[in-house]
Amino acid sequence: MRVAMIGSGYVGLVSGACFADFGHHVTCVDKDATKIARLRDGEIPIFEPDLDRLVAVNVREKRLDFTTDLPGPVAEAEAVFIAVGTPSRRGDGHADLSYVHMAAREIAAAVNGFTVVVTKSTVPVGTGDEVERIMAETRPDADVAVVSNPEFLREGAAIQDFKHPDRIVVGTSDERAKKVMTELYRPLYLNQAPMLFTKRRTAELIKYAANAFLATKITFINEIADLCEKVGADVQEVARGIGLDNRIGSKFLHAGPGFGGSCFPKDTVALIKTAQDAEAPLRIVETVAAVNETRKRGMARKVAAALGGSVRGKTIAILGLTFKPNTDDMREAPSIPLITALTDMGAQVRAYDPVGMAQAKEVIGGIEFASGPYDCAQDADALVIVTEWEQFRALDFERLRTVMKQPVLVDLRNVYRPEEIEGFTYHGIGRPSDPKG
Ligand SMILES: NC(=O)c1ccc[n+]([C@@H]2O[C@H](COP(=O)([O-])OP(=O)(O)OC[C@H]3O[C@@H](n4cnc5c(N)ncnc54)[C@H](O)[C@@H]3O)[C@@H](O)[C@H]2O)c1
Repeated sequence: MRVAMIGSGYVGLVSGACFADFGHHVTCVDKDATKIARLRDGEIPIFEPDLDRLVAVNVREKRLDFTTDLPGPVAEAEAVFIAVGTPSRRGDGHADLSYVHMAAREIAAAVNGFTVVVTKSTVPVGTGDEVERIMAETRPDADVAVVSNPEFLREGAAIQDFKHPDRIVVGTSDERAKKVMTELYRPLYLNQAPMLFTKRRTAELIKYAANAFLATKITFINEIADLCEKVGADVQEVARGIGLDNRIGSKFLHAGPGFGGSCFPKDTVALIKTAQDAEAPLRIVETVAAVNETRKRGMARKVAAALGGSVRGKTIAILGLTFKPNTDDMREAPSIPLITALTDMGAQVRAYDPVGMAQAKEVIGGIEFASGPYDCAQDADALVIVTEWEQFRALDFERLRTVMKQPVLVDLRNVYRPEEIEGFTYHGIGRPSDPKG
């Protein structure tokens, strides 16, 4: 099948490369000429494990190419995916659909013959209707079916997630479109990945409901962690104790500094707005979003508490800047409000991240960047683990103790156990700080 992927970011590039790997011919389109030039030069503009290999193989096999020219590949395609960004709209938090609408207009002008137009971007309920309306307005003669096919991949494990999804959700009532979608995903279908056909609006809502539920789970365990600290319980054991119950499940029960990233923050807020507009407010999700924002800002106070209440004039070493490991994505990373608050409170901040430094430098100013964990910890009063990169899981604490001014560890991801860290004052999340406690 011939596929055009409009938008070649985290989702478009991974989806495009995976569809090509299934044997389809995919052209990834992007407005960003620099991005396309880099891709054509064999360079991957984002960090995603194994993506370089997958792209290289499929380019070599001539199943995958890149262009800034939208009309050409769209005219040839049987399926056109919209995978452009849907950030938070400034001011009100609704999803900004301007990129989706713009792509819809450009696609409508270029389609040729029956074409399935698939929205992969995360879009509010009813966006498919609007895309259909734009198509009909731009090209009344166009023969298109507008389908919702939300994406559930996680950055850092995106290829694995795309190729081994828990489910594939397809929102359409059009029989021709169902056939095309089944054919596109056939290799996964054969592997028994459940394909869930729903109405378009239902598919759109499934994506938001899934993200809101996961965000709720994280926020729930984060608040339980706060309670654990007050009552002398251990949140990791609580999480294990409840997670072993199949009705609850063990995933997304890791207490930490609050959720960030390119999806949860904007998607929870967009869902809240949709629900308010529909006069069916989601009060649980509203609370989740508010609690999470407060939590992210509150992490700096935790660092201050570890240093006796103030960070003024102190040097704080931050390990990990990206919103999670194995990605270079800095969108809504908890490190940003933490560092802002620490500098506001008078601290000197030095930070290190294994792959996110270039992106971090674009969004965080006024701090020093280090070349490695030990360089980062030099003369620091506290070392704060913010992102649980693999390389921070086996730090040499003896060496750290010799380079730091004070041996204080604030472990916002509970990577270590207090009793493992000799000679350090340890502060985790939701656990007694004193190992004998
Ligand atoms: N990143 C994730 O983990 C993830 C997971 C699931 C769903 N999503 C959703 O997928 C969508 C895309 O997210 P992303 O993280 O890949 O975004 P991104 O910002 O990395 O990529 C979007 C790309 O679209 C391009 N673009 C915008 N308008 C265009 C147009 N008219 N024509 C061609 N290209 C255009 C941009 O230049 C950019 O490269 C969002 O709706 C997001 O919510 C993201």
